Amino acid sequence: MPLVTSTELFKKAYEGNYAVGAFNVNNMEIIQGIVDAAKEENAPLILQVSAGARKYAKHIYLMKLIEAAVEDSGLPICLHLDHGEDFEICKSCVDGGFTSVMIDGSKHSFEENIALTKQVVEYAHARGVVVEAELGRLAGVEDAVKVNAKDASYTDPDQAVEFVERTGVDSLAIAIGTSHGAYKFKGDPSLDFARLEKISSLLPNFPLVLHGASTVLPEFVAKCNQFGGKIDGAQGVPEDMLLRAGKLGVCKINIDTDLRLALTAAIREHMALHPADFDPRQYLKPARDAIKGMVQHKIKNVLNCSGRA
Ligand code: G3H
Ligand code: 13P
Ligand code: ZN
Repeated sequence: MPLVTSTELFKKAYEGNYAVGAFNVNNMEIIQGIVDAAKEENAPLILQVSAGARKYAKHIYLMKLIEAAVEDSGLPICLHLDHGEDFEICKSCVDGGFTSVMIDGSKHSFEENIALTKQVVEYAHARGVVVEAELGRLAGVEDAVKVNAKDASYTDPDQAVEFVERTGVDSLAIAIGTSHGAYKFKGDPSLDFARLEKISSLLPNFPLVLHGASTVLPEFVAKCNQFGGKIDGAQGVPEDMLLRAGKLGVCKINIDTDLRLALTAAIREHMALHPADFDPRQYLKPARDAIKGMVQHKIKNVLNCSGRA
């Protein structure tokens, strides 16, 4: 099976009240860990690449690794650009074989965001590629988009409807209280479910996207810290909130930080317990296994998409 767009994945997810995981990838071990997990769970999958990942690994290396993953696994995999900040990077990914791109115009004014998103939609749709946009601003650090908590503003439901109608975009990332990275909440975690319900009732059968959706499981933070790490005050989105979002029109849940934590915890543990090792395979294998375990956990406990491929 070739790479797929997210159209069919989202249609099934919407109808089945579950979400598809969109996992950020940067190298072979991360790709293999994620794909092995999805294969074992027979789950649909979105692999996403940020501008930073593309710069780190190069487009062609990631492309070839993901083509290998598609061939090796036989799974329906969608290859998505995460947080494209301008038309040029979206065009480059459309031309370079991605099946989905995100144009993140959330830092622009409403009208500028619409104009930019429309331009990408026209280019991508003419070539069979789907587009995600973002309306509302997440707190935290995005790839090349720095947003202060102070500036952060949640998605306005009426604007969301107008935005979707005027741009023709295929899915929309919304801001309801999540943020990128490992430090999402200072006090008790809370998401604006009333706002999510309003948006999804105004946009029936339309796939919504949740960025900044890592759960930051305490055991992985603890393991990093046990073996020399220093991660203080980390807090993620509770799993039950994500399951609830998956039943309210959220069809795509973005996960990067949890993969980073799992991988780093495994490498830290290995290096601490085997200080004489210097063969990369000795520590990258447990790191890859940790990614696999994390993704299986997500598929079963957060996305509810096991057996849906
Ligand atoms: O939302 C951003 C993703 O976590 C990607 O992060 O830009 O460091 O690759 P990155
Ligand atoms: P996390 O930092 O919560 O993993 O979010 C990742 C993300 O939204 C990528 O676009
Ligand atoms: Zn994001």
